[in-house]
Parts: sequence; structure tokens; C-alpha cells
Amino acid sequence: MIKLPRFPVMRPRRLRVSPAIRSLVRDVYVLPSDFVLPVFVDERITTPKPIKSLPGHQYYPPRSSELVTLIQEAMDLGVKAFLLFGVPNRKDMEATRAYARDGPVQEAIRNIRKETGWEPVLITDLCICGYSSHGHCGVPVDCRRGKCIDNDRTLELYKRIAVSQAEAGADIIAPSGMMDGQVAAIRSALDDNGYSDVGIMSYSVKYASSFYGPFRDVMDSSPRWGDRSTYQMDPSYTRDILKEALMDVEEGADILMVKPALPYLDVIYRLHTSIPTHPLAAYNVSGEYNMIRLLAEEGLGLYEDLVLEVLSSIKRAGADVIITYHALEASKYLENR
Ligand code: PBG
Repeated sequence: MIKLPRFPVMRPRRLRVSPAIRSLVRDVYVLPSDFVLPVFVDERITTPKPIKSLPGHQYYPPRSSELVTLIQEAMDLGVKAFLLFGVPNRKDMEATRAYARDGPVQEAIRNIRKETGWEPVLITDLCICGYSSHGHCGVPVDCRRGKCIDNDRTLELYKRIAVSQAEAGADIIAPSGMMDGQVAAIRSALDDNGYSDVGIMSYSVKYASSFYGPFRDVMDSSPRWGDRSTYQMDPSYTRDILKEALMDVEEGADILMVKPALPYLDVIYRLHTSIPTHPLAAYNVSGEYNMIRLLAEEGLGLYEDLVLEVLSSIKRAGADVIITYHALEASKYLENR
């Protein structure tokens, strides 16, 4: 530790006296180009539909011009990366709409690519919870404990989904199901099919969190029995943090992710310092988004200030990339600062 002089008295307030001095010395910057905007494409609709549990957001029909306009407007604000989630017209045991050639995400990507080329970074969430009739991220089987999620059968399904998303034109695949070995499985499936240029942003350290509530409502993806604690991580167990992240590095992930962000800023900081070789993303999830909105709606805080404070805390903790529902509004606020 550096030893601070005791005399003359330290006066840190000198660097706070004016806005210009404060901005001169500032060292944490949040930029629109750091953001990833989650986008929900729903193949059951023909016109955009507001999402009740995520105020300010809409479901988009995969082939619509409105979807393309959203992407273009975001890019005009400097937001160039998008995380696509699909809502299928049919849920079944095999999650078939997740890998169908004409599935919601696949069609959305083709539509966006046709109209905007390769400029937007299209990242696809890879999971089956929103596509399956059981709502789990893996394949349920009968086992000696009753019902279990079969890790390795799930990997086979993930490979198929990854290849179909790559084939449609995804830049980066983001597996969110927390199956062991998912990155290695997807990497080899992509490579075997000629998609060695498609990256993997792994949900590496993903907790069994109560902050996903609004999202599960959006996707109608709550597990129909049990919960996700046999695959998502225990918030009160720390030894898996580095293990999960290092496994993903070893298996070939290009970007690591921590999710949620705010209750896990310590985890972001740890990975930022212990794995300097890989970009780190943080997912500022649906419950965190609504928490801020509700605080402002109750008149207990200024929305714009709350949003920018939250986003800079995530950046300060060490995230390079922030996946956030605030992406567009925050980009507008940043223009005026
Ligand atoms: C799971 C998945 C989840 C989110 C995205 N993909 C969590 C879950 O349902 O367990 C949550 C995102 C959010 O809350 O914004 N495949």
C-alpha cells in the first residue's frame, strides 16, 4: 500500500470543486458500445406487442420491419450488440422450435442480416427453458432421485441449436443453461460444421437467482416442477466461481459472463482480476431493471441518475460488456453528459 503524507492535510475535495475538474480526473466511463441490448422475438405475433413485466420493451415478430428499425435505431445511438431470445409458437418436450430452421431466432437473424448486413453483432441465447413444455434448461429424465436433468443428453440438443443459430448468421452463441461441458460441446459442434469463426460468450458464473422473475414471465419459462438449483449456482458457495470460469476458458469460451450483476459485483471484480485474458460480460437482469424503475416510480430517486450509477458500478467492478435492458435509454442519457 502507498503511504499517504500526513502533512499538509490531504484535501481530496480540491478535485471535486467544479464539474470540469471532476470530469478531468474521472476514470470510469460507460459507453453505448459496451452495451448489449436483449431483444425478444415472438413468432406468434404479427405486430410488436408491449412486454408488461419489462416496461419500455416489446416483443417483435421475427420477420418484421419493426425489428429491423429497432436494430437500426439502437445502432444510431451507438449500441451495436444484441442478445436474441425466441418465443416459440409451440412448446414441446424436445424444444424443437429452438433448432428449427424457421425458428423465431433463426428467422429474426436472417431478417436483420438481410436488411443491415454484418454490422450489428448478433448474439443468440442458447437454452431450452423457453422452448420446452417442462421449462427446464436441460432434458428431464426419471432417475433414482425421482426427476433429474440429464446433463449429457442436453449437450446433444445444445449442439444442434448452436449449429442452427450459426447457420442462420449468429456472430456469437451464448449458452445459458449451466450444463457441465456446454462450452466444449458447442465449440466442437461449431468447428465440425465449418463455423470456427462463431464465438462463444458463456454464461460462466450464473446463479440460481430470484432476480430473474420478470424474465420468466416474459418467456413463460418457469420450471413446471422443481427449480433450477441443481444446475444454476448457489449464491452462498464461493469455490465454484473460479472453477466454472476456468472450465469455460479451458473449453474454449471467448467471453465470460457473470449473471446477475448487482448482487455479484464482488464476483465480477474477482474474475476481472484473476482472468485478465478474456473479456468479461455482466448481465444486469430483468429484476435489477425493474428494481430501479420501481424506485423511481415511487418518487424515491431520479431514474436517469439511478441508471447511470448502476451501470458505472458494473463497469467499475471490472465488466467490459454490460447486457442491460437500460441500453437504449442509458445511451441517450450519456449523450448529454
Ligand atoms: C435461462 C435464462 C435466464 C435469463 C436468461 N436466460 C434465467 C432463468 O430463467 O433461470 C434471465 C435474464 C433476466 O432475468 O433478465 N436460460
